[in-house]
Amino acid sequence: PLSNQLSPEKIDTSKPAIGGVGTAVNPTPKTEWSFNRTLSNSIRKNILKFLDAERDISILKGTLKPGDVIHYIFDRQSTVNVSESLYRLLPAVSPMKDRHFQRCAIVGNSGILLNSSCGRQIDGHDFVIRCNLAPVEEFAGDVGRRTSLVTMNPSVVQRAFQDLSSAAWRERFLQRLRALQGGVLWIPAFMAKGGEERVAWAVRLILQHALRVRTAFPSLRLLHAVRGYWLTNKVLIKRPTTGLLMYTMATRFCEEIHLYGFWPFPRDARGNPIKYHYYDTLTYEYTSRSSPHTMPLEFSTLRDLHSRGALRLHTGACH
Ligand code: CTP
Repeated sequence: PLSNQLSPEKIDTSKPAIGGVGTAVNPTPKTEWSFNRTLSNSIRKNILKFLDAERDISILKGTLKPGDVIHYIFDRQSTVNVSESLYRLLPAVSPMKDRHFQRCAIVGNSGILLNSSCGRQIDGHDFVIRCNLAPVEEFAGDVGRRTSLVTMNPSVVQRAFQDLSSAAWRERFLQRLRALQGGVLWIPAFMAKGGEERVAWAVRLILQHALRVRTAFPSLRLLHAVRGYWLTNKVLIKRPTTGLLMYTMATRFCEEIHLYGFWPFPRDARGNPIKYHYYDTLTYEYTSRSSPHTMPLEFSTLRDLHSRGALRLHTGACH
């Protein structure tokens, strides 16, 4: 049964919320980790009852047409029209069709990655997932370079690329996409209102420059399905983070899943300060006020799955 998958009683929700400066959090247990194939298979099977990531990773051409009206998932009152350009970037078949990997890395954006020297290890996986177009070149030693799939929340266009407002910012954005070398760019365009123009600018640039990226736009049912899976397992998340979405989807394509850069706490286990992101100056204070996420709860869930061998959470330095 599903309830055997996760043991919610082991999930310690008393962990400090984001912003609990000064409180040390236990790292992942130091004991030898070994992969639990049986548990991992059973999690995959159960997630499949809620979503099929091969399908739900993207809306396909033909399932809608230019001019169609879409209600945002989180802002049902607001709508957006499917533009001609966005339609052109919808894949005809799933970018993950028939793709299966032995070992995948999902790289979160926590500052815990700084000075980790995990770059080479991360790049050694068969498929590397990154979040929100996080930069890699300048941090390659700690985070690696390879990107097989990267997400792009529309807000990132503003936060990390200054709304593409100058030629220099547009070039930076293009550089980041070129570095994907044909990888998947996953754009949750229809989740929350407010990003319409940003998606439109990004889409226009991709088309104008005929960039070699495989764009994907998550299905309209993905979010609720992912949330449904975790709620059914008594993990009471408000809105899954990109990182948890990626883990949930990756179970479909990956045998062993390794997580790096997941650490939603302002201090490491020794009490040293940890940046919210490895690459910018966003703070925990900022995110705790504006974020609908429940990251510490997600983290304790992932840590529980780590301790049972379903996934591997890397929170220390790599050697
Ligand atoms: N993450 C983490 N600890 C941090 C920062 C991020 O565990 N200190 C994980 C989260 O799972 C997060 C992912 O890394 O979803 C990517 O980070 P980020 O780009 O910050 O995602 P958010 O913008 O916070 O989340 P979302 O995109 O869902 O709003």
